Amino acid sequence: MGKVKITETILRDAHQSLIATRMSTDEMLPIVEKLDNVGYNALEAWGGATFDASLRFLNEDPWERLRKIKDKAKKTPLQMLLRGQNLLGYKHYADDVVDYFVQKAVANGINIIRIFDALNDTRNIERAMKATKKEGGHAQACFSYTNSPYHSLEVFVKDAVRMVEMGADSICIKDMAALLLPYEAYNLVKALKENVKVPIELHTHYTSGCGSMTYLKAIEAGVDIVDCAISPFALGTSQPATEPLVATLQGTEYDTGLDLTELSDIAAYFRPIREKYIGAGKLDPKMLGVDANALIYQVPGGMLSNLVSQLKQANAMDKYEEVLKEVPRVRADMGYPPLVTPSSQIVGSQAVLNTLMGERYKVVTKETKGIVKGEYGATPAPISDEIKEKILKGEEQITCRPADLIEPELEKIRSEIKEYIEQEEDVLTYALFPKQAVDFFKSRQAAKYKIDGSNVDYKNATHPV
Ligand code: CO
Repeated sequence: MGKVKITETILRDAHQSLIATRMSTDEMLPIVEKLDNVGYNALEAWGGATFDASLRFLNEDPWERLRKIKDKAKKTPLQMLLRGQNLLGYKHYADDVVDYFVQKAVANGINIIRIFDALNDTRNIERAMKATKKEGGHAQACFSYTNSPYHSLEVFVKDAVRMVEMGADSICIKDMAALLLPYEAYNLVKALKENVKVPIELHTHYTSGCGSMTYLKAIEAGVDIVDCAISPFALGTSQPATEPLVATLQGTEYDTGLDLTELSDIAAYFRPIREKYIGAGKLDPKMLGVDANALIYQVPGGMLSNLVSQLKQANAMDKYEEVLKEVPRVRADMGYPPLVTPSSQIVGSQAVLNTLMGERYKVVTKETKGIVKGEYGATPAPISDEIKEKILKGEEQITCRPADLIEPELEKIRSEIKEYIEQEEDVLTYALFPKQAVDFFKSRQAAKYKIDGSNVDYKNATHPV
């Protein structure tokens, strides 16, 4: 037992969860030095959806954001979230792209890379972990917490032990759906601490209202680091708030050593920004309440609202209860994937189809077939022969690591966008989000040209935020 460390998520997950990742670099920079002085374990500042959102909605270069933050945060490690072989995109990339992306992330200022895979298939995080270590970064391996008849303490411990064998410098429990209850957290952390030597970090969301209690029990079980958000962007679908936890632990053996007055200055900075987003209708009060459905149905809140909108579109809201019963059955058929992007959408849509068609798997989505085929990697539990037969209709399952089937692609990508390259990192931006990247490159060229001539601020003129 000892002092607890806190990773602050305000620059990444907090605004990703509450305001759809819309916080701009200009809104972050004035407070970064203060954040750097607090003594956090790390500042989570990059990755996840921030890369996509910077390009798509803010007309910002994500690499430049990272460099600007790093310039002001010289003491505290910067952390990013990376979806293993998917990097920050939505498909598997070739190993040469993964290596180069990690190399550039570290070179531009990232110290800790938190790496996860939607299916918890450790083969999908191995390459990114190796690359991180090769670049001198801290490779944090992460598993998604979920409940199912297959998942147990033993399964999670086995995953964690495997990750440490693969070279993980620390382990993170990622409870994206806020399913981890306080006493379960206690048992899970205890079991992990007994079986692995590296630090254990816990990441949860406040969605189900349990987050702070879950942290407290995890701390009593010996968790080393917890993820919190400064109060104006905490709670609801975001993380538990930083300040109450710091106050709670003060004077105990777990004391974080952080100064509440400094945290209060930071909160004061973000309060008007929060008000601005509430005023603009971007921070929905619904995001801030307790979603008890997450506790009852064991599915992430966002997934339920997706189901409702699909059923409304089909004029079939009367089937809601039936679909809710079908979701766990489809999930079982698919080998109990954690319900996180993209598996939550895949399972949800298939459950709707199975219910509306009146016959299970009469219509199968491309993505459902992909999961069964092994295109996303191995599912936690094996898929039954009956389901394989029904969905693959004789096609072979892929049993290797999906990226083993992808040829190196970096040079081809580079040749496609030669004319736009102003920095090496542009190659990676294009590899991940080709369309958004080209739009961004074009507007960057245009802005440069016009600013030289007439000093027009095109960034703000064309993309109001
Ligand atoms: Co999160």
